[in-house]
Amino acid sequence: MNSPTITPQVRSNPSPKRLRSQDLVSTTDLAPREVQAVLELASLMKARPDDFRSALAGKQLVMFFEKPSLRTRLTFEAGMAGLGGVSFFVDQTQSRLGERERLSDIAHNLERWVNVIVLRTFSHATIEKMAEYASIPVVNALSDLEHPCQALADYFTLQEHFGRVNNLTLAYVGDGNNVAHSLLLTCAALGSSIRVATPAGYEPDAQIVAHAREIAEETGASITLLADPQEAVSGVNAVYTDAWVSMGDEAETELREKLFVPYRVDEDLMAHAAPDAVFMHCLPAHRGQEVTDAVIDSPRSVVFDQAEARMHVQKAILLLLLEGESRRFPVRSVHA
Ligand code: CP
Ligand code: NVA
Repeated sequence: MNSPTITPQVRSNPSPKRLRSQDLVSTTDLAPREVQAVLELASLMKARPDDFRSALAGKQLVMFFEKPSLRTRLTFEAGMAGLGGVSFFVDQTQSRLGERERLSDIAHNLERWVNVIVLRTFSHATIEKMAEYASIPVVNALSDLEHPCQALADYFTLQEHFGRVNNLTLAYVGDGNNVAHSLLLTCAALGSSIRVATPAGYEPDAQIVAHAREIAEETGASITLLADPQEAVSGVNAVYTDAWVSMGDEAETELREKLFVPYRVDEDLMAHAAPDAVFMHCLPAHRGQEVTDAVIDSPRSVVFDQAEARMHVQKAILLLLLEGESRRFPVRSVHA
């Protein structure tokens, strides 16, 4: 095996150091410098996957998903396999976690068998409670409130595409949902700039926005909420949209499909962005609704880079949560 790019500084400090939180329930579990560290480690792991093939040998991950998934499930499975670990998937779409037995009892079973729990739930509180009860790390794979792995992968994609995340502006256009929340918090941690344009009544959660603004005070990030999609995308480097009807919001489909029409990302809207702006979407896309084929299939679209990034970023998250910073992993900024 080739020697990974280990810095002498890290080599001389063999004691493992972990992230400040045992879990990744919210993006805010990561300190701003830890968000940067995840992106740095993901970049190294993408460049040198062979150096990490046995990094999590003997470790086991379990996923419980109350909602469907393509990307999240498969990137955790492929990522864990790429690190030498194993993963188990439990389809939880027929009943919610906690219905058959108490969450605390589930937690105390799982911690005897596996090393990390990954949850996709309706209620964010389910993930918070599991993290409270379980003695092993818990990772949010999407809740009604946040999608932290997604936004970390999205900023990783921007970093790879533009070579930087600061001095960039991302415009998120559409529903102020879980993905918008995690983008706000990740942008804040990275000191970047975001504009979020939503119809009245669909703004991002006020507490999330307040928290993002608090972090922004520390990092110099810029956060702007507005209603006009054209104003939001004017001159930006990235235009991002997501489903108008998130999983769990299906009862509002008819209303939302009318209300969100002015927020559709089409070529006219993209024309207001910077000439080299990229189009982003977490996927799955609802073509003809929040985005047109012409935009998502255009050379400006980086949606499959985002999907690939999920795997690199989640590998980095798993490594940091399960192993911490050790002599094998040169992530100097974690505890700088
Ligand atoms: N973006 C995302 O989380 O995709 P899945 O719902 O397919 O996991
Ligand atoms: N906001 C969407 C994201 C899907 C990955 C949802 O929650 O359904």
